[in-house]
Amino acid sequence: MTKVGILGSAVVGQTLAQGFKQHGYEVRIGSRTPAKLASFTESSGIPAGTFEAVGAWGELLVLAVHGMAAQEVLTLAGAKNHRGKIVIDTTNPLTRDPPVDGVVKVFTGPNESLLERLQAEKDLTYLFISHDLRAVRHLSDRVGRKQILVGSMLATAVVLAAMAFSGGSPLFIALVAVLGFFLYATRPVIQAWLLEATPRNMAGSSIGVLFGAQAVGAAIGPLLGGLVADRWGLLATFYFLAATIVIANLFVVPVRKALPA
Ligand SMILES: NC(=O)c1ccc[n+]([C@@H]2O[C@H](COP(=O)([O-])OP(=O)(O)OC[C@H]3O[C@@H](n4cnc5c(N)ncnc54)[C@H](OP(=O)(O)O)[C@@H]3O)[C@@H](O)[C@H]2O)c1
Repeated sequence: MTKVGILGSAVVGQTLAQGFKQHGYEVRIGSRTPAKLASFTESSGIPAGTFEAVGAWGELLVLAVHGMAAQEVLTLAGAKNHRGKIVIDTTNPLTRDPPVDGVVKVFTGPNESLLERLQAEKDLTYLFISHDLRAVRHLSDRVGRKQILVGSMLATAVVLAAMAFSGGSPLFIALVAVLGFFLYATRPVIQAWLLEATPRNMAGSSIGVLFGAQAVGAAIGPLLGGLVADRWGLLATFYFLAATIVIANLFVVPVRKALPA
């Protein structure tokens, strides 16, 4: 069983520690002063240790500390203890200043992420979980539009086919959530790619064509889906959708030259 070392003792660290434990993982939680976690350890059964001890013990690490302390905590955990391990990062790059008019301050620049800064400085293997589509767009800037688009569309088709198999089960609901991510993840990538591939003086009309095509799809799609459902049954619409996405992918795959990001 994977040993999960949580680096961070506040609400996020404690919540994730309990969540991992509930799902059957062996968990330890780290802090500069593990003694302060005595009552948490007593109620949860999760042992506490220093960042170094937990970093060394964990096979998978979760970084759940204040963003300003992230570098310091990884140093305390010890480079040899996190090198080669997956580090799940929950930190936000927030300063310690209070919000101004409800707006929090970040210490990273507009095109910089704390995660990448830590990865470069600390040689991390990272896994991030994001609900922010800007992250997908940023990834596509680095990995390449075509790769992200083809990957997302293939994943969408696979999820749709899996939905047809799992209709009525709790898995179906989980798949709906995953489907939403892949479907919407493609949109900013398509838009960015389109703008790069279009001469500047035609940017307006190309975006107009894109939005127009989306509107036509939105108008015709439900009608076609309804017809398929009436004729061949509800599950057939999932296969129908999966097939249309595979066909759409066939238009993307032959594009030879991925334009520079
Ligand atoms: N991804 C998300 O959806 C989400 C949601 C909420 C919060 N967050 C982020 O999750 C992280 C944890 O949030 P939180 O509210 O649980 O905790 P927090 O109050 O932001 O940070 C507490 C943790 O940071 C460590 N720490 C603080 N200052 C330090 C320093 N100078 N040197 C070393 N360690 C220091 C503390 O260590 P000790 O144990 O030694 O005191 C403690 O473990 C934050 O970055 C927050 O922005 C993410």
